[in-house]
Amino acid sequence: MFAILSREEIAPRFHRFVVRAPEIARKHRPGQFVIVMPDEHGERIPLTIAHADAAAGTITLVVQEVGKTTMAMGRMNGGDGFVSVVGPLGTPTHIERLGTVICVGGGAGIAPMLPIAAGMKAVGNRILTILGGRTHELVILRDEMAAVSDEVFLTTDDGSLGRKGLVTHALADLVAERGKPDLVVAIGPAVMMKAVAELTRPMGIKTWASLNSIMVDGTGMCGACRVAVGGQTKFVCVDGPEFDAHEVDFDLLVKRLRMYLPEEQAARERYLEQCRCHGEGGHHG
Ligand code: FAD
Ligand code: FES
Ligand code: MG
Repeated sequence: MFAILSREEIAPRFHRFVVRAPEIARKHRPGQFVIVMPDEHGERIPLTIAHADAAAGTITLVVQEVGKTTMAMGRMNGGDGFVSVVGPLGTPTHIERLGTVICVGGGAGIAPMLPIAAGMKAVGNRILTILGGRTHELVILRDEMAAVSDEVFLTTDDGSLGRKGLVTHALADLVAERGKPDLVVAIGPAVMMKAVAELTRPMGIKTWASLNSIMVDGTGMCGACRVAVGGQTKFVCVDGPEFDAHEVDFDLLVKRLRMYLPEEQAARERYLEQCRCHGEGGHHG
């Protein structure tokens, strides 16, 4: 059992867990993730290690409620535990001093961005961060990202925080004003990462994306996380999660992410029904 030391709701449907996992905390490198099985009857889901504290023996996970498993996790608390946490998995981010790095994070993608921005800052890069979300509450971890950035630019779809519009608008203007950065890192919904890649490709700006494909084993054996990169088949769990964004077939990624939508919807309905039967409130449906 991996003890949950705390759970805090940092935004609507976003939870930050601090979990006791000393071995994982000791070995963790930016860009890596864990596969968590919250309870013995449930599924296994991949979650990025947003922060690791080797001295305290803890890892921090930031989880957005999107379906059955993440909704059930949102009801767990300090004192509960996860049945299994496997990791650290995935190829760590290649951290090097390049010059200026623009980090573009959208929604739940801001959590995986945090350790990458911190790692890139620690080796002397200038970090310009663009964070976006549908509305102000969904632009998470603003203080944490500001602490590892030289400058932060905020955008919301509804204009409730920062500039109204998409992260790609802010990115286009930033590049026009400041010139080409040495690297852009984009993490967020697949459509957002595709839009960033399409913007930076004609400008010849090196761009990485961290892919969020469906995973089962997380060790390269099941094939669930298959993506096409540069016309070749890659497994996100072992070859990634980061890839050259200009080489990624984002349309295939989106198609494969939607492969089990009817099953996911049914599992969510069954779960909500169970909660209603037990008279438990708290879920927004
Ligand atoms: P479901 O209703 O089952 O699924 C909702 C959607 O999530 C699906 O349509 C599908 O697109 C995706 N999904 C479903 N099952 C999986 C699966 N086994 N693996 C991956 N995606 C799935 N989310 C966070 O909130 N925080 C993170 O730090 C985070 N890090 C991730 C790191 C990696 C490397 C990957 C691949 C994904 C990460 N995710 C993260 C996404 C997270 O794994 C999914 O949101 C979660 O599995 C959804 O489970 P569910 O049962 O609640 O929702
Ligand atoms: Fe099974 Fe990547 S999750 S091969
Ligand atoms: Mg699920």
